[in-house]
Amino acid sequence: MRNRGRPVAALVSSLALVWSFLALPAAAQAAPPAPAATPPMGFNNWNAFGCDVSERLIKETADVLVSSGLKDAGYQYVNIDDCWSLRERGPDGRLVPDPAKFPGGIAGVADYVHDKGLKLGIYGDAGTKTCAGYPGSLGHEELDAQTWADWGVDYLKYDNCNNQSDGSQEDYIRRYTAMRQALDKTGRVIVYSICEWGTSQPWTWAKGVGHLWRTTGDISDNWASLRSIIRQNAPLAPYAGPGHWNDPDMMEIGNGGMTATEYRTHLSMWAMMAAPLIIGTDLRAASAETLSILGNRALIAIDQDRLGVQGAVVSDGNGLMVLDKPLANGDRAIALYNSTDTLATVSVATGLTGLRPAGAYRLTDVWSGAETQVKSTISAGVPAHGTVVYRVRPLRDPAGVAPAVAVGAELGTVVPGPTGGGTLTTTVTNRGVGAIRDVSVAANVPEGWTATPTPSPERARLATDATLRTTWRLDVPAGTPAGHYPIDITASYRWGPRHRPATTSSQIIATVVTAPEDGRRHLSTISPVTSANATGPVETDQSNGGALENDGNLITIAGHVHQRGLGTTTGSELRYYLGGRCSRLVTDVGVDDEAQGGPATFTVYADDTAAATSGPVAAGEAPKPLTADLTGAAWLRLVADSPTPGTHADWATPILTCGDVPDDSPTLPESQTLFSFESGTDGFTIANPGDGGTVAPSPLFHTQGANGLAVSTPVAGNWFGRTLAAPVDLSGRTMLKFDLKAGDVGTVGEIAVQVGESFTWCQGGLWTWTNPHSSRTVTERFDQISCPVGVTLDRSDIRAVWVFLNTGGEVLIDDIRAE
Ligand code: GAL
Repeated sequence: MRNRGRPVAALVSSLALVWSFLALPAAAQAAPPAPAATPPMGFNNWNAFGCDVSERLIKETADVLVSSGLKDAGYQYVNIDDCWSLRERGPDGRLVPDPAKFPGGIAGVADYVHDKGLKLGIYGDAGTKTCAGYPGSLGHEELDAQTWADWGVDYLKYDNCNNQSDGSQEDYIRRYTAMRQALDKTGRVIVYSICEWGTSQPWTWAKGVGHLWRTTGDISDNWASLRSIIRQNAPLAPYAGPGHWNDPDMMEIGNGGMTATEYRTHLSMWAMMAAPLIIGTDLRAASAETLSILGNRALIAIDQDRLGVQGAVVSDGNGLMVLDKPLANGDRAIALYNSTDTLATVSVATGLTGLRPAGAYRLTDVWSGAETQVKSTISAGVPAHGTVVYRVRPLRDPAGVAPAVAVGAELGTVVPGPTGGGTLTTTVTNRGVGAIRDVSVAANVPEGWTATPTPSPERARLATDATLRTTWRLDVPAGTPAGHYPIDITASYRWGPRHRPATTSSQIIATVVTAPEDGRRHLSTISPVTSANATGPVETDQSNGGALENDGNLITIAGHVHQRGLGTTTGSELRYYLGGRCSRLVTDVGVDDEAQGGPATFTVYADDTAAATSGPVAAGEAPKPLTADLTGAAWLRLVADSPTPGTHADWATPILTCGDVPDDSPTLPESQTLFSFESGTDGFTIANPGDGGTVAPSPLFHTQGANGLAVSTPVAGNWFGRTLAAPVDLSGRTMLKFDLKAGDVGTVGEIAVQVGESFTWCQGGLWTWTNPHSSRTVTERFDQISCPVGVTLDRSDIRAVWVFLNTGGEVLIDDIRAE
């Protein structure tokens, strides 16, 4: 029953393709390249559209891939993600494309896409249901693989929700190999993308099973996510190669949550890591800048290089990483990646890379196209969150090529006014063969600021590897608002026998700090000026967890759960600028229940004076209250110490009071509780009552009051919530939140609302995953919640609130609120 339901025209056109293939001269009929011989390139709708996928979107995207030139640049696969099918299989057991979303079926879209010279991808799940609750393929592998092959599918992304797994690696291998074998059986070439989030370390077993495997949890469109994924994926270089790639997830370039510098880092590092390049933005609305980043041919060539080697980490420290990737023509791609929040000079000696020894090297900057030469150190001033990528090869005659000059700078925080100011240090280093002459440096500060150099920022001659260092005193007018201000540092010089003039510039961002506004505030909503921690980053509104960003639990001290606070480890220090305007910090402190250790000592400093100290607090001890008098202090410092650094030390519900405000004024940001589950289930039900299940109040987990809600269903994932008695007005609120404690197998959480008279369903595109037995706050900003085309989310007319839980046993929630 192949080709069932395919339009006749499509059959004719595929016959025509077969015919034209047969008609080719024999030499052109060489075996087709192995699938995914280079990392797959294409598009997938998930990052930009979530479940809102349709035939129209896929076809229009295919059109734009062609018209924008991205197809010619190498982007080939157009991939459909979750939510394309009906909720039930057909009478013959087959998956059924949702006719409302795909009126022409998947086969119809496949034909359309193939006619454009592109390929089609689909999504399935190695579990009983997909993450969004559509039928999964566990136990249906052969039928589903055959169905996709019949439709003309060329690429399968195979997910891991509702997997019924015992968690063992054997089980992962079994489930993912079953689909490998089913795909083989179809006889169709289908690229197989394993999506199990790195859970079972697929890099150790999936070569020969899948062509690529996700190495991490889901990416999201923000810098912290990008940085964390790079950190996880970069060390896996030895496991990648032609036909078996590490997949750090689809790209977010163009989605609006990051700067152009960050998006350039995204493509740069994906290319260096030989990652699949799957576009995740709405190409129909993409800006010229987005298209030019995605279409960077020099980086695509590095990603797609036929050697297929993932760039190796040459050095990694203090947030600066150097990657080295060999290329088929003998060149090497060298990336200088700066994950810190300020300009940094990133350098590597050529001898530490795979470059063969030579007297000089030619560097081609893949973003600017500029060509320079170096003697033996590759180095550049790299902006915060930026990446410089050079294509490098030995250079016999450096005389005609401009020397590479690295311009660096360092700057502490800047305080406005006569008693404030800041100190800027600039460095200019000549890395080229041959001296540069008449060197001078200029610092271009914002209007009204002054920068006074010592000593004079000039030098007649700067030899190879010599540095001109200058210190500048910065003065900033009183009243300058807190924020980030760019300062351009430009070195001017002459090079070569003909004394050709040249300049090199770097930009450093000055951070101007001012005191917090008047009021009582959760300290966790104020950014510290500096923060240092023993393990991973300091976490906001969760405990420290481990080395990764956002990997903690809700702060829990001797069973007391806190929604707000700072999760640190001992050996930490946080600094906040108060400018003498604040009076008091009130907080609880303690060792988090998630990890034993300790004792820990917590000290609050007002400038250099210890304003409150806890003494040693042991693990399991109840939260200890501290009150610190901060009157007149310019700086607040929070320090947690212990004989054994790394103890999980929590600052629980710290509240800072600034200005002259009464003790009982509300704590900012104020939140509005929608459901507290204090007096019962608050009328919560299961969206699809046919699914069965239970909701019951429970004292086992509560972040407000004494009760939360325990929920479970026999069906893997479900929406829980209710229609509101009367419409609720949430205008002025920016986000929805709820607290969650997962059961035995972990869970995903998400929020949906129904709005307006027609109760239109609007939901967030992205799940929040919570590990087994962990807790966290699920947050969804209103601007992340999407409604069907044509509907805007009217915050003043909320008719129903639902949370999605992928229950896997009992899950506990509490305090659904708007903020
Ligand atoms: C996740 C997957 C995402 C997306 C989503 C769909 O498990 O990592 O990339 O496919 O499921 O529900």
